[in-house]
Amino acid sequence: MSAEVFTGSFTQQEPIPDEGIAAANAVMRSGRLHRYNTAPGETAETVLLEQEFAAQVGAKYCLAVASGGYAMATALRALGVKPGDRVLTNAFTLAPVPGAIAAVGAVPVFVGVSDQLVIDLEDLAAKQGEAKVLLLSHMRGHLCDMEALMTLCNEAGIAVIEDCAHTMGAAWKGVPSGTQGRIGCYSCQTYKHVNSGEGGLLVTDDAEVAARAIMLSGSYMLYEKHLAGPPPETFAQIRYETPNISGRMDNLRAAILRPQLRNLAEQRERWNERYRKIEAGLRGTPGLTLIARPEAESYVGSSIQFLLKDWSGEAVQQVLRRSAERGVELKWFGAPEPVGFTSRYDSWRYVDTPPMPRSDAVLAGIIDMRVPLTFSLEDCGLIARIIRAEVGAVYQATQDENSG
Ligand SMILES: Cc1ncc(COP(=O)(O)O)c(C=O)c1O
Repeated sequence: MSAEVFTGSFTQQEPIPDEGIAAANAVMRSGRLHRYNTAPGETAETVLLEQEFAAQVGAKYCLAVASGGYAMATALRALGVKPGDRVLTNAFTLAPVPGAIAAVGAVPVFVGVSDQLVIDLEDLAAKQGEAKVLLLSHMRGHLCDMEALMTLCNEAGIAVIEDCAHTMGAAWKGVPSGTQGRIGCYSCQTYKHVNSGEGGLLVTDDAEVAARAIMLSGSYMLYEKHLAGPPPETFAQIRYETPNISGRMDNLRAAILRPQLRNLAEQRERWNERYRKIEAGLRGTPGLTLIARPEAESYVGSSIQFLLKDWSGEAVQQVLRRSAERGVELKWFGAPEPVGFTSRYDSWRYVDTPPMPRSDAVLAGIIDMRVPLTFSLEDCGLIARIIRAEVGAVYQATQDENSG
């Protein structure tokens, strides 16, 4: 019998819902794509999106912007981070996170990753004196113990910005991701939980932060058009003091996003069905460690990770190669060179960072796989069988070598 092969695509998203296409067409027909270009009595799609997203996560204020990276840099600026300031962030995250810190001329201070793939709270406690802001990345959708983290940061006087690029729709003990820190930042880029190609959202309950973010994004003194923004009085001084660093969202993207946000809870269930199918298929594979998901965490399983703990780099490479030959694309965070999306703290050489051996040991074993909604449950079962077989085969061979 020949080995099963998966022939689907790991990067194919679902189409934009018909409702979003119709709304986008209406915006294009109107010609009023710029968020401040409205007809009398009209409320821009961008403004409606902000109101709806604020209500969805239970935040007071929301601003739609050009990208998740822009949202993070804006959040840092809105908190007053200046060139040369140090900002705590995750060693295990993707390049736009330290990039946002670098964008404001600040310096990332990396905090280690635990074997649950979340920020290492012990390492955070050890570094708490080094910065006044933490840009916390919920990398690949894994939430740390948010209560413990917030207690630590509140006691240390550290303002938390949450990077929710992978946790839009997720929650910790029912609290939506992005609403525990001072500011929550989301991405609407194609590979995220809603897709407008590019785009970002920023939420906060802090009126001054919201006002600064609105001014920063390029509001040309039209801030009163922001119905999910703070009252005009908040802008009294801020409007003179805040530079315009344009990065607005447009009505076309907003029109595409609104129906997707309305479907988010349903999409989360579809993602999680797929995630659980793959997880169940991988459970018990020799040499492979699944990541336990805490009770308190409601996640969105748009990707799955597992660990090949203490494996040699060569054996991991064999798994990647053999899986790829059968159509399964796995990413590895332990590779000596960054490939595609998988860079890590020591790839960002514009930051002078001491080695982090405990994190290196975790990173060396992290395998990551996208789970797009275009996969059927049968696809997920097949993918799990392929990974199980290939991990099992390589693991068995290394065991035999060691005992031989
Ligand atoms: C963890 C993480 N944070 C932030 C971002 C930034 O999002 P964007 O691509 O919208 O700038 C990304 C995007 O890949 C990401 O993966």
